[in-house]
Amino acid sequence: MIFSKRISLCALLLAIAIAAGDHGFAQGGVGSSTAPASDGLPAWAFLWDPTVQVPPPTDTPNALPGSNATFSWKQARDLFAALDWHPDDHPAMPDIVANGRKPEVRACGACHRVEGTGGPENASLAGLPVAYFVQQIADFKSGARMMSGPQRLGTQVMLASVKSMTDADIRAAAEYFTALKRKPLIKVVETDTIPKTGPSRMFYVKSPDGGSEPLGQRIVEMPDNVNQFELRDSRATFTAYAPVGSLAKGEALAKTGGSGLTAACSLCHGPDLKGVDNVPAIAGRSPTYIIRQLYEFQHGSRSGAASAPMKQTVEKLSQDDMIALAAYVSSLEP
Ligand code: HEC
Ligand code: HEC
Repeated sequence: MIFSKRISLCALLLAIAIAAGDHGFAQGGVGSSTAPASDGLPAWAFLWDPTVQVPPPTDTPNALPGSNATFSWKQARDLFAALDWHPDDHPAMPDIVANGRKPEVRACGACHRVEGTGGPENASLAGLPVAYFVQQIADFKSGARMMSGPQRLGTQVMLASVKSMTDADIRAAAEYFTALKRKPLIKVVETDTIPKTGPSRMFYVKSPDGGSEPLGQRIVEMPDNVNQFELRDSRATFTAYAPVGSLAKGEALAKTGGSGLTAACSLCHGPDLKGVDNVPAIAGRSPTYIIRQLYEFQHGSRSGAASAPMKQTVEKLSQDDMIALAAYVSSLEP
């Protein structure tokens, strides 16, 4: 239902964009992702290939460096229990974050990790302002915030989860994640050539066969240690490959607004882009997530109560501008 609504809205916006000679996403979408990009979507940021088979989970315990805990792949796949590798690194979790509530509300900490570090396929939640967090849940519930592209498993489960949250759940989750420190986990590297990717389901991984491939006009963000990330360790780190020149171009756009192309991000997101009042931080967050959000604001799928300033900010940006901005803001200290 939501999907078909999205397609028609996107088709409409795309038609308007093409008619207006827009240099935006209509001509973009370069990359080797297998996700459909028929509506001009940057498919590489909305990665979804359900044909990639994941091996059946086993009960064998796994260990990770720096932790005395062990968890099996069966536990890692259970979305009603968030794996906590480093209980000393964070305050006690409210039940909704640690275990969710059956049947619908999956543990927020399972997908977003217990320290709200998230990953390229979802979002980091650490340090988000409480009022912003609460508003986003309300926007997801009302449909004012939608998630474009193929209906990736994570987005469907996320929506089902938040729709069944009570006000008390929302409050508890918001207060927990807000109190967490954002961590520097992402390294941005400019390059033409990247390690060969795939097979990739919801986020890029390095191919076990080795080799390389051209980056093209996209950002490819990969966990440095895929097992650590998939076992949901909040200490997992990432390398984000961006086209050569992105950082300098992004810095100029972010700092000056590019002579009216956009607005200086610091006007609202604070001098270091670490957030101010109810405006969330963008520094040091996943570039893949940031690209998706810029796309959502531009295409009207993020149209919540506080979205108007962002809509104006992104209105004239091309996909390449967005890549540059995302690469730059992600490279900053969170
Ligand atoms: C199945 C995985 C999954 C689960 C479980 C999940 N989420 Fe999410 N969440 C996502 C995805 C995917 C996104 C990113 C959407 C996008 O890219 O637009 C997201 C985004 C968010 C955002 C937006 C962040 C921002 O910066 O605007 C909030 C807030 C959020 N989730 C809260 C929660 C809460 C609270 C719970 C627990 C009830 C939860 N999520 C459970 C997958 C999940
Ligand atoms: C005029 C104020 C304003 C300016 C300028 C601005 N932003 Fe924003 N931004 C906001 C607000 C307000 C939100 C929250 C929107 C909402 O609640 O839907 C936001 C949200 C975002 C988000 C989503 C964050 C999340 O957690 O999902 C991203 C990404 C973002 N801005 C990037 C940028 C970039 C990059 C720039 C500079 C090119 C910029 N913004 C300039 C006000 C602004």
